[in-house]
Amino acid sequence: MGSHEDRTYVVTGAASGIGAATAAALADAGARVIAADLAWDGAPSPGDVERVRLDVSQPGEWVVLAEQLRPAGGEPSIDGLVNAAGITRRARLHDATADDFAAAFAVNATGPALGIQALAPLMRDGASIVNVGSAAGTMAHYGIAYGASKWALRGITKTAAMELGPRGIRVNLVSPGFIETPMTASAPVAFRDANLVATPLARTGTPAQVAAVIVHLLSPDAAFVTATEIAVDGGLTGHGGGLPIARALTGD
Ligand code: NAI
Repeated sequence: MGSHEDRTYVVTGAASGIGAATAAALADAGARVIAADLAWDGAPSPGDVERVRLDVSQPGEWVVLAEQLRPAGGEPSIDGLVNAAGITRRARLHDATADDFAAAFAVNATGPALGIQALAPLMRDGASIVNVGSAAGTMAHYGIAYGASKWALRGITKTAAMELGPRGIRVNLVSPGFIETPMTASAPVAFRDANLVATPLARTGTPAQVAAVIVHLLSPDAAFVTATEIAVDGGLTGHGGGLPIARALTGD
């Protein structure tokens, strides 16, 4: 892992799961971490981080955060942003409401775009932004509003990478499969079981395994990587439906 000393990152969704693991990994690597989340629940701080309460769906809150982070001299001061805050909506096509779509898009798609808008002006040349998408954003997904919001985040990632490239700012997306976090703990057991069957590695992932890829994308080791997507999903999306066919033929 490249060094992150003397670097400053903002991580959203930092109170739990993947965001918390990312904040902790960055702090361990020597970075200053602004750990933003809607809900700090009194749990121990995930490493040596500065907690900030932020609702990513509220443009005004991003403006306030940007003002707080703007140094007196006005020089760029931020080396990266990780948009990990997210909410799930599990209603299927015939049950999903307009509110399900509005909520999922506000947090999972608009929120990251607002964060990029607010903080990119504060970013140094060489800064890196990582959006946390989902396997659900690369295929059909039973929770239609959630899946669609993650498809939208892929488009936001590509456009931001195009817009910010000339400033030397990279923007990439990490798409996790089933990761053991409070979000997936709230899913039906059948969802977990079905994911295990559909995943070539036949196991679930950990927040730290996702964080390791995010931290790499933030580092100068990934200096020529932008506008791309990395699945951290044990092969879930990579087989494209080939797994059950191979099993049917081989009996494995
Ligand atoms: P989590 O539920 O453990 O953590 C999400 C965090 O986001 C919470 O701390 C929550 O307070 C925060 N948050 C929610 N709404 C917010 C808002 N409006 N403003 C600021 N913070 C807000 O979830 P997990 O699993 O760590 O998910 C992190 C990201 O990874 C999400 O974007 C999720 O969609 C994505 N993801 C997770 C997968 C998994 O298997 N756990 C799979 C694929 C994607």
